[in-house]
Amino acid sequence: MQHSHDNLKDIESLLEFYRSAGVDCFLGDAPVDWVEASARQAAQRHQAAPASPPQMAGGPDRTAAASHAAPKSTPRQQAAAPRQQPASAPPQAAVMPDRETIASARDLAAAAASLADLKACLETFEGCNLKLTAKTLVFGDGNPDARLMLVGEAPGRDEDLQGKPFVGRSGQLLDRMLDAIGLDREAAYIANVVPWRPPGNRTPTPQETEICKPFIKRQIELVNPDVLVFLGAASAKNLLGVQDGIRKMRGRWMNYALRDREIAAVATYHPAYLLRSPLEKRLSWRDFLSIRSRLAGL
Ligand code: URA
Repeated sequence: MQHSHDNLKDIESLLEFYRSAGVDCFLGDAPVDWVEASARQAAQRHQAAPASPPQMAGGPDRTAAASHAAPKSTPRQQAAAPRQQPASAPPQAAVMPDRETIASARDLAAAAASLADLKACLETFEGCNLKLTAKTLVFGDGNPDARLMLVGEAPGRDEDLQGKPFVGRSGQLLDRMLDAIGLDREAAYIANVVPWRPPGNRTPTPQETEICKPFIKRQIELVNPDVLVFLGAASAKNLLGVQDGIRKMRGRWMNYALRDREIAAVATYHPAYLLRSPLEKRLSWRDFLSIRSRLAGL
């Protein structure tokens, strides 16, 4: 009896160790080599594909069998394909982000005629590996007709659980900051550059960001706000292409170019940074006052 009690204590202290080291979600029993899994799946697909009929001189074989053979999908089509996995199938293999996948993301995003279309298209998009570990798609929140749009970097744990951006501690601070200038979520629309939570809240890789970029760009186009606010340097750097650090960039009005017009855009400190560095709130306050004046003046 004493023995199992000791075991339990050991398990508890191990869990406490993981928790204090920042582990906040369970991903699997063993590490997964996604590159190897992806290569294995590709080899299986290759073996399963019917051998192509010999090519006759003068062009492709146009027999009935040839014309009924399933066309091979391109990487672009694979990235866009809905997941069709039986419950017992191994998890979806990781994709190697390449130009084709990025081009596929661009085509899909450009074809979305509404926010609902864009969301549906992200729900079936298989080109971003973050989707493999995230629980939900965190698309956007607030009022799509709002004149103010705020863009963060990527969802965290709370956002992943609730499927909404900025609902954790930094989201609550953001709500208070909006409230301080007389706004709330009904007066703003909020989204992230990357709509899936990176495991353990790590920074999204440049490839992940690049693949998701066409979607957030289209989201901005569809919301078509008068004022765009980047929360933190990452979203501003990715969408405006500026290279300055946030200290230099914050509070400076810039233009975000759409195809046919420009939107007034500004970067300010990310609320998560303000939680760690509360003294900087005074500079954020200035930025939010400037945002309020800009909205009033437009
Ligand atoms: N940080 C972000 O950048 N986005 C969120 O949605 C939450 C935290």
